[in-house]
Amino acid sequence: MPVPEIIPSGEALGATVKGLDLAAPIAEAEVDTVLRALGAYSVLRFPDQSLTTADLRNFSARFGELEINVANAFQEPGMPEVMILSNIVKDGRPTGLADAGQGWHTDMSYSKTIAFANVLYGIEIPHRDGRPLGATEFSSMTAAYDGLPEDLKRRLEGKTVLHDFNKFWEMMRREKGSARAPLTEAQRKAKPPVSHPVFLTHPINGRKVLYANPGYSMRINELPEKEGDEILAFLFEHQVRPEYRYRFSWTKGDVLMWENFGTIHNAVADYGPHEHRFIKRCQVAATRFFPEAA
Ligand code: SIN
Repeated sequence: MPVPEIIPSGEALGATVKGLDLAAPIAEAEVDTVLRALGAYSVLRFPDQSLTTADLRNFSARFGELEINVANAFQEPGMPEVMILSNIVKDGRPTGLADAGQGWHTDMSYSKTIAFANVLYGIEIPHRDGRPLGATEFSSMTAAYDGLPEDLKRRLEGKTVLHDFNKFWEMMRREKGSARAPLTEAQRKAKPPVSHPVFLTHPINGRKVLYANPGYSMRINELPEKEGDEILAFLFEHQVRPEYRYRFSWTKGDVLMWENFGTIHNAVADYGPHEHRFIKRCQVAATRFFPEAA
């Protein structure tokens, strides 16, 4: 079996993995290679893939339990663990969630069992003047932790942050004119706010990461509200410093996989309604690392 070639981006995050056909059965050794590469680079591109939706789901499921998104919006028929991110309107109807992830966040920090990985398959990528649009940007949370002032690291050690799914959802409706309907009572009950430590130890590479994000983090539980809010505002600015960032530009046929412990991400909304972006996505819960939380 040929050994996959891993080519680092040379930036804070990111590598390209060549020589793996994700439509074919993946051996355990290859799963280990991908896990190690995620530990080292956090964001992986698998170029030139040709996948069915089931292939995407089966590959993703090798890494943990797949999440069924609480919003129940735009799931692949018969495969609710695959979500469709699309700005294409067909016969007057949207074909997917048009504005998923358009703001810095970490997927599933609002869940009791947090996310390990996202796996996205690029089927249509918008272009203008020959250049791809709709990039996915990342920021390294190991670099963000390392770059924190020492006294703040000490101050926050052992503290926890409250995360709420509804924060990002409402921000999209309020500030970005999203057509999303408000979450129902049942959806809010299915994902009540949860708390996680503000610093986690990355389960693959053992490094400390900052685990807070502007999309879902609400407050620091153990601090007075005003002080906690000021610190969160500082963290939100600090964690997207340019030197921590990596911008991924899509090519049709790319599979993009990233781990959510050591990164936050943002889907760049720089394309118009007639510049089509169509992507299928699986979210892998961190059951492999934190089975007790499931
Ligand atoms: C996401 O936040 O999972 C979506 C990212 C993207 O569409 O680039």
